Amino acid sequence: MKRLVINAIEKKSKINKELYGHFSEHLGRCIYEGLYVGEDSDIPNVNGMRSDVVEALKAIKIPVLRWPGGCFADEYHWKDGIGPKSSRKKMINTHWGGVTEDNSFGTHEFMELVSQLGCEAYINMNVGSGSVQEMSEWVEYLTFGGLSPMAKLREQNGRKDPWDVKYIGVGNENWGCGGNMTPEHYANEYRRYATYCRNYTDKKLYKIVCGPNVDDYDWTRGVMKTVAPLLKTDSGRDLVQGISLHHYTFPGGWDNKGKALTFTEDEYYETISRTYYMEELITRHSHIISEYDPKGLMGLIVDEWGTWYQVEEGTNPGFLYQQNTIRDAIVAGVNLNIFNQHSDRVKMANIAQMVNVLQSVILTEGPKMVKTPTYYVFDLYKDHMEAELLGSFLENETIGPEKWQIPMLSHSASMDKEGSITVTLVNASAGKSESIRILPVEYKASSVKGRILSGDLHDHNSFENPDVVSAKEFTDFTQDSEGITVNLPAGSVLCLRLSK
Ligand code: AHR
Repeated sequence: MKRLVINAIEKKSKINKELYGHFSEHLGRCIYEGLYVGEDSDIPNVNGMRSDVVEALKAIKIPVLRWPGGCFADEYHWKDGIGPKSSRKKMINTHWGGVTEDNSFGTHEFMELVSQLGCEAYINMNVGSGSVQEMSEWVEYLTFGGLSPMAKLREQNGRKDPWDVKYIGVGNENWGCGGNMTPEHYANEYRRYATYCRNYTDKKLYKIVCGPNVDDYDWTRGVMKTVAPLLKTDSGRDLVQGISLHHYTFPGGWDNKGKALTFTEDEYYETISRTYYMEELITRHSHIISEYDPKGLMGLIVDEWGTWYQVEEGTNPGFLYQQNTIRDAIVAGVNLNIFNQHSDRVKMANIAQMVNVLQSVILTEGPKMVKTPTYYVFDLYKDHMEAELLGSFLENETIGPEKWQIPMLSHSASMDKEGSITVTLVNASAGKSESIRILPVEYKASSVKGRILSGDLHDHNSFENPDVVSAKEFTDFTQDSEGITVNLPAGSVLCLRLSK
């Protein structure tokens, strides 16, 4: 039996809803087929957006969507994606399979999708192969409501009013696919680009500078050294609000990735151990950021995370299509608990990617759609959004093979505006269930409700069997005057809701 003490009067930091964000790139079947099928498709749609997918995503209240990339962003020229579809320029998607991109999904379509989902837009601008003018005109096209060349062009294309765009990424992975720059060179470019990314409304843009790949602490230091002086003045602070971090979970490593559906117990522990590395990365990058930004003005934006396996057999290697099991649910549960626990610095996180690419929440095949185990984790965790992280302490133990030791349990707890507490717990053990005694301090719960995701680690949903894995009501707990005792099966993700 382990104890989990939750202090209901120790409110630590707000868990931004954006921690539960998503990423959609012009990559494989994410945008085309997954989200957008076009108005003439037989698949039910509203203005070209698949109705089944939009409904499923709305049910988990997705808060923010990043687009158009990824690596694609630094090759994307937004003017190719506006105006009559028949005359939109076609291009080669060099990063992702060398396929033809017909630009039929562009700015208007993305903003339509965001409006149907009811979420914030996060647009990643092109620094690698774009220009300051191109970027500044895109911002004008999107957000300027007065009389101007770009506002006029937008109106000619059928949209009079500007859109609400909150988040702007100035380049993506500029240490690699976004231009292979050095941190100092990129950060100086960032300062120039961000200057011309104007605020046209009272709602100021939240601008994100490209941060490190995994453990590239030199990149963080180089970028922070160059951009942090901006934080000294009000006008400078308008130029930079966040710095990104990318970390994927590759069991086997980048060159020898394992498979999504078949894996040994050792490979399972390796996957979870590589996921837990996120904790160290956030902690160490945050320390560097704090050296330059001691007031905590800048957010850490983990805008790409998730599992990355070999593609499914018979699919285009450039499309990064992979299945998703309970193992992925454990990865999601652990990562989301880490983000919650670091919500003082982590202000957004975006799983890669939303549909049909890498660790997706939804998979599609023609008119069929399945929700993955990862989808249900987002469903279980959704009450953490905009709640206050609570101070807590969990007894734990280390498990797994010598090379891939992990903490058995992961957790976070938060209190929402109504005073209800959400506790999310992951038992990452491949074979051992565990009893947990939950002891709330300064809180008497009159009602406790639970939902759980569990099963064999290899369980997954397919188009033939779409309902093998789903969140179920959880009843394996007892409550007394001091607390709640739950029995957490091996390989499970649990959400408990405590109300007064
Ligand atoms: O998500 C797939 C790719 O991974 C993105 O395009 C890129 O930013 C990262 O390397």
